[in-house]
Amino acid sequence: MRMVDIIENKRDAKELSTEEIQFFIKGYTDGSIPDYQVSSLMMAIFFQGMTEKERADLTMAMVESGDKIDLSKIEGIKVDKHSTGGVGDTTTLVLGPLVAAVGVPVAKMSGRGLGHTGGTIDKLESVEGFHVEIENEEFINLVNKNKIAVIGQSGNLTPADKKLYALRDVTATVDSIPLIASSIMSKKIAAGADAIVLDVKTGAGAFMKTLNDSNELAKAMVRIGNNVGRNTMAVISDMSQPLGFAIGNALEVKEAIDTLNGEGPEDLTELCLTLGSHMVVLAKKANSLKEAREMLERVMRDGTALETFKTFLISQGGDASVVDDPAKLPQAKYTFELEAKEDGYVSEIVADEIGTAAMLLGAGRATKESVIDLAVGLMLRKKIGDQVKKGESLVTIYSNFEDIDEVKAKLYANITLSKEKIAAPILIHGEIT
Ligand code: URA
Ligand code: CA
Repeated sequence: MRMVDIIENKRDAKELSTEEIQFFIKGYTDGSIPDYQVSSLMMAIFFQGMTEKERADLTMAMVESGDKIDLSKIEGIKVDKHSTGGVGDTTTLVLGPLVAAVGVPVAKMSGRGLGHTGGTIDKLESVEGFHVEIENEEFINLVNKNKIAVIGQSGNLTPADKKLYALRDVTATVDSIPLIASSIMSKKIAAGADAIVLDVKTGAGAFMKTLNDSNELAKAMVRIGNNVGRNTMAVISDMSQPLGFAIGNALEVKEAIDTLNGEGPEDLTELCLTLGSHMVVLAKKANSLKEAREMLERVMRDGTALETFKTFLISQGGDASVVDDPAKLPQAKYTFELEAKEDGYVSEIVADEIGTAAMLLGAGRATKESVIDLAVGLMLRKKIGDQVKKGESLVTIYSNFEDIDEVKAKLYANITLSKEKIAAPILIHGEIT
């Protein structure tokens, strides 16, 4: 088999065979096929697309390119949740303990990553003593015992995807739905998921800015999952404004605690109940979404969800007393209010720009080497549709430095008030099964 023929086939819109796809992924991973041939193929795929069969083959070839996590010793159906990323997205912190509390095994492998705030692990490290450096065996035991554990990324997962993603990044071939979909799905499958709930974000703060693109990406991922034997569904959720109120690491942990206690922001609570219900059904712990939702609402009400969170923290070295006393979380030295300059209704909160403002405070990582300040961030006091009086706070800024002019300017530039009444945005734009 020759790489040049594979490129030519794709260029001419022929369907690649399973063997051709395995050949180029294997050759690219082991270094026998050079970057220039693979970038040419990526560009051909960008223009010609991929059939459903090709997408499934590409996903599985990437899964097979490295290690796979073996979760077979964990009892039950392992349902993973994946979000395509947004601003102040506290869902993972809430969903883990929430679904674990009704018996769904949550075996989460997580990373730190770059972004407006840290990854799930960074956020959890706001809790004194909490750590994810545990052995695989202990990880498995903890999930069986508590139904939830988080471990840091380990092993050599989907090396083909890492190499391809880096190449696509510099060859203008990231924005291809088949390539994005197989990239994301390969990582979930290699991490051991039996079933997958996808939270595909849409809007200004999302990777996919339009509803149409978000729908297409969701459909592509759901088809791949189901075609390779993993029960998969997607929820399309709004990211035109940040989710919940908190954007920052310790602030989001506090928000997660409130939400697990049934006292969280309305949008975050609703999204967690929606995604959670699907996870419970896919894990076969309930027969219907209605039943699943009732189970989740019950554990929020009766304190079981919060207890599960505490047990999880303690099991991984954390000081669970923060749950009852969130003042023990890292605290910023200064707080400032961003005061409304006029009366009106909030009409726009540009999510990614608000995220950037949180980064300016030090809440996120710009490069792999950046050190996150866990204490700092933003608390939105108003969301789209809310009425505001002049002088009222739009945002509370938590900072460890006094000069926040740049942050304030960014916030003012990206929160718009209107004289007319505005409706709150729709939270759930659709579901794809
Ligand atoms: N995120 C991924 O993991 N892969 C892509 O290709 C794009 C976004
Ligand atoms: Ca939030």
